[in-house]
Amino acid sequence: MTENNTNPDNEAGADDRVIGTPSDASGDTIVAGSAEPHREHAGPYPAEETHTRSEEEQRKGEKIASAWFIIAFLAGIGFFVAYFAWPPNAADEPAIADPQIGQYSNMALGGTLALALFAIGAGMTVWARRVMPHYEVSSPYDELPSPPEEKKSFSEFFMKSADESGFLKRPLMRRTLLLAMAPMGLAPIVMLRDTGPLPGDKLHNTLWEKGMHIAVEGTHRKIKVSDLDEVGGMISALPYVEPSEENPHGAVSLNDQAKAVILLIKMPEDAWGPEMTEQKLNWTQDGIIAYSKICTHVGCPAALYERETHRILCPCHQSTFDAADAAKVVFGPAHRPLPQLPLSVDDEGYLVADGDFSQAVGPTFWDAEKEA
Ligand code: FES
Repeated sequence: MTENNTNPDNEAGADDRVIGTPSDASGDTIVAGSAEPHREHAGPYPAEETHTRSEEEQRKGEKIASAWFIIAFLAGIGFFVAYFAWPPNAADEPAIADPQIGQYSNMALGGTLALALFAIGAGMTVWARRVMPHYEVSSPYDELPSPPEEKKSFSEFFMKSADESGFLKRPLMRRTLLLAMAPMGLAPIVMLRDTGPLPGDKLHNTLWEKGMHIAVEGTHRKIKVSDLDEVGGMISALPYVEPSEENPHGAVSLNDQAKAVILLIKMPEDAWGPEMTEQKLNWTQDGIIAYSKICTHVGCPAALYERETHRILCPCHQSTFDAADAAKVVFGPAHRPLPQLPLSVDDEGYLVADGDFSQAVGPTFWDAEKEA
C-alpha cells in the first residue's frame, strides 16, 4: 500500500487507482487525487495546478488555436467582400428593394459573420483546454476591503496568470487572435455606410406640384370638384400621372404614394374652426379640403372619418384630428396636425394641387415646421 492509499483494506503492494478512473482489477487501490503532487501556485489564495501539459502538447494546441483564428480572419475578410459584392445602396436603392439581392446579401453577411465568430470561439476553446494550465483555487470569504498586501499579491498573480495563459509567451497564437479580431472590430464601422447618403430634402418634399391633377386611389380617375358634391363625402386620392408607354397605368411608385396620399373631404361651409387662417381657407375649393393621410404620430394611414363631428381618426393609436379646424390634434399621441395640401381648380373643373404640402408629411420631423 502506498502512502496515498486511502483504502485500509488494500493490501501492501497492490496497484493504486486514481478516483474517477475505471477499475478492471480486483486488487486496484483508490487514492484521492493524482499520484503526482500538485504544483502550488503563488497568489492571494491557495491554488493548485491540476493539469500539467507538456511543452509539446501546448505547442500543438497553439497551432490548432492559431489555425482557427486564421479561419476567423478569412471569414472576416469574406464579410467585407460580401458587403461590397452586394452593395446595400446599389442604384440608389437599399438592398431590400430587390428581394433577390437582399437575400444574397443577408446570407453572405450572416454566413461569414457566423463562421468568423464560431472560429474565434473554437480557437479560444482550444487555447483554454490545451494550452492554459488548470488550477483549483480556494477563496475564503474575507473582510472587505482587502489589505494592501493582498491587493499587491493579486496584481502579481494576475500578471503571472496572463503569462501562463500563453498570451504573452505564444506569439503565433496572440498574433493570429488579434488578426482574427481586426475584421470583426471594423465590421460595425463599415456598416455605418448604410446610414448614408444623407436624404437631402427628400423627406421635405412629396410628388405634389402646382397644377398636378388629383386621382382616386385605386381607380386612377381624375377628380372633378363636382364629384364631391355631397357634404361629408370623403375620398382617398393620389397624384395623377399621365399614362405613357413605359408606364401604361400611370402608376405612382409605392414610395411616392406613401408620402403623397391624401384625404379629400367635403366640409359644410360654416363648419370651419379658428385654426383655419385666411391662407388655409384659400387652399380649399368649394368646401373641399385636402389633408395628408399619413398620421403624424408614427405614420399609419389615418383613414377613418366621422362626418358628423368632422373627426379624422387614426386606427393605430387613436390619434384624432379635427378636419374642420386645420386638422389639429384633439386626442391621442400625435403631436402636430395633418399637413394640408393647397387645392386649386383647372379650366375643365378638375381638382389640382396648388403646390406641395406646407409641412413635412408623416412622423419624420416631429413638431418641425417646414420652411416656406
Ligand atoms: S400612428 Fe396614428 S395614432 Fe399612432
